Amino acid sequence: MAKQESTELTEAQLAVHWKEEGYYHPSAKFIAQANMTDTDILERFGEKNFPECYKEYADLLTWFVGGKLNACYNCVDRHLPKNRNKTAIHFVPEPEGEPIQHITYQELWVRVNEFAALLREFCGLKRGDRVTLHLPMTAELPITMLACARLGVIHSQVFSGFSGQACGERIADSQSRVLITADSYYRAGKLLDHKKSADIAVETAKAEKAPPERVLVWQRHPGKYSAQTPLVQGRDFVVNDLLPKYRGHRIEPEHMLATDPLFLMYTSGSTGRPKACQHSTGGYLSYVTGTSKYIQDIHPEDVYWCMADIGWITGHSYIVYGPLALAASSVVYEGVPTHPDAGRSWRIAEELGVNIFHTSPTAIRALRRAGEDIPKKYNYHFKHMTTVGEPIEPEVWRWYYNVVGKGEAVIVDTWWQTENGGFLCSTVPALSPMKPGSAGPGLPGIYPVIFDDDGKELSAGAGKAGNVCIRNPWPGLMQTIWGDPDRMTRQYFQRYCKDKDSKDWRDWPYFAGDGAVLAQDGYFRILGRIDDVINVAGHRLGTKELESAALTVPEVAEAAVVPVPDEIKGRVPELYVSLKPGVKASPELSAKIAMAIAEHIGPIAKPNHVWIVPDMPKTRSGKIMRRILTALSTKSDTGDITTLANPEVVEIIRSTVQAGG
Ligand code: PRX
Repeated sequence: MAKQESTELTEAQLAVHWKEEGYYHPSAKFIAQANMTDTDILERFGEKNFPECYKEYADLLTWFVGGKLNACYNCVDRHLPKNRNKTAIHFVPEPEGEPIQHITYQELWVRVNEFAALLREFCGLKRGDRVTLHLPMTAELPITMLACARLGVIHSQVFSGFSGQACGERIADSQSRVLITADSYYRAGKLLDHKKSADIAVETAKAEKAPPERVLVWQRHPGKYSAQTPLVQGRDFVVNDLLPKYRGHRIEPEHMLATDPLFLMYTSGSTGRPKACQHSTGGYLSYVTGTSKYIQDIHPEDVYWCMADIGWITGHSYIVYGPLALAASSVVYEGVPTHPDAGRSWRIAEELGVNIFHTSPTAIRALRRAGEDIPKKYNYHFKHMTTVGEPIEPEVWRWYYNVVGKGEAVIVDTWWQTENGGFLCSTVPALSPMKPGSAGPGLPGIYPVIFDDDGKELSAGAGKAGNVCIRNPWPGLMQTIWGDPDRMTRQYFQRYCKDKDSKDWRDWPYFAGDGAVLAQDGYFRILGRIDDVINVAGHRLGTKELESAALTVPEVAEAAVVPVPDEIKGRVPELYVSLKPGVKASPELSAKIAMAIAEHIGPIAKPNHVWIVPDMPKTRSGKIMRRILTALSTKSDTGDITTLANPEVVEIIRSTVQAGG
């Protein structure tokens, strides 16, 4: 792979140089009730006990005879004897006038069984088949996932905010037999027509010669079809119309091998198209259950609210599988956390008695901006809070701690990735102090290390950034990249492997693609991506994907995306384009290019600026120097530009950017 000098360490260079922060300690009250207070865990999960230590996590699950298991059985059936009447899912609709649905474990079991019967009998789905879900945040999403898991069908949920086209590409890549979607959902006060995306998705998959056989549509308001886009006869079926036929049906959970895939989750990497991380049933479920218990400190009596979308890995692991495996009550909120006003989240927390809260720095920044003191007006009490997805600035961390957590809640800053299944770095909340801005040490059983470019290990306290890697594998690590196993080795294990023929895991450190610094006390501070990926609001977008979307606009000759810091979202993409000869720049054209990106990928990817420039700064070999564009966007030093093929263009671009386009 070509060395990506043009973007290397961009994020690290942009990173604020924080001073070393002081510790915050968990309260005695928190420690008294915590699931993990035994420092022996570090010994038990020591490297010499690897990998046997992970049996402790596997023992949290119920296994069938012969080492088989079923994820749905573990998240639903096994809780019935003790917790039948306990709420499994609190579904909170965005419109505040619509009542919250409290779905008990018994009701969840009934609904999952009936839907599993429909999938099996109406769609003929069986173990090993793939289905793509493009579902918004309603209770039907976990119900659909669990029904698939019950049958051994591999689900691939695509974030509902992604476009129909992005969904269609994923249908084709996973060769999904069925698309499961919804007619509509509420977002920021509007009922969106979501069925429209399904039509585009099917067309896209068809163009790739892999159309789904059927489209199943859940109704947002059961009994009433509320999308403008009509159903396609013979292809689209309304789930709510079909379900009565399966009333009372019960489906025996499939006995799956621990290594059978449970789901696919697409993410962006440094090359080309998004890739599907294939997660296993046994290892994945053990890991998310263990980490939900010890890092999230979930007890069955807790009300747990993770504000992420289930369309991302965080939602799979820490809204659905982990919390439900522990018989907790998990909140699923449909809409925008600040809708209709900045008090909404805290009203939900107050009404439901939420005591564990989990969100991203982006959401924390947005809530803070919407109202510094608003949380104080509400009578909720968190014992535990999580941050995930991007680095959190110490200032923002302190607002989270003092204002949202009212100084009562511990915080865990959990660093991990779609590929990882569950947390990699975090403090164990009752065992070690918190340090604002630092994720903390590796989890029990995880051995992170920082290598410099030459593969030399950087020692704790060295004060230098390097590439963070994990020395050992762990149960939550994805099994492979769907349909491209070599890419798994290339992208994650080749970088620091010293002996390509070795069968010993010690020779194959996992390369995460993040820059990080290791402090003297063993805490890791993650700086961000080192590859061609932009982390927007805690989610990875491939720069190449954005650039190729821009190139679908016929007027565009070249496109380059760079990340720029944003007060709320952490980073946002900015786009530079040059036009084909004879084409004139105009605000309409800029808007058209931005729209093309939103259509291809989704509104989350829309650049905040499209700069039309006469030419890109290039090396003599013709490579676009994104580093220089980043410097221009962030108004920082461009460094030495004399080696460029066209240094004169830098000043022209600078004046465009300074003039605001
Ligand atoms: O750069 C890191 C950042 O998010 C990337 C993973 O993104 P994704 O696969 O979408 O998963 C997001 C949720 C697990 C990482 O490579 N990241 C994630 N958590 C943190 C973080 N950066 C700093 N601190 C974190 N706690």
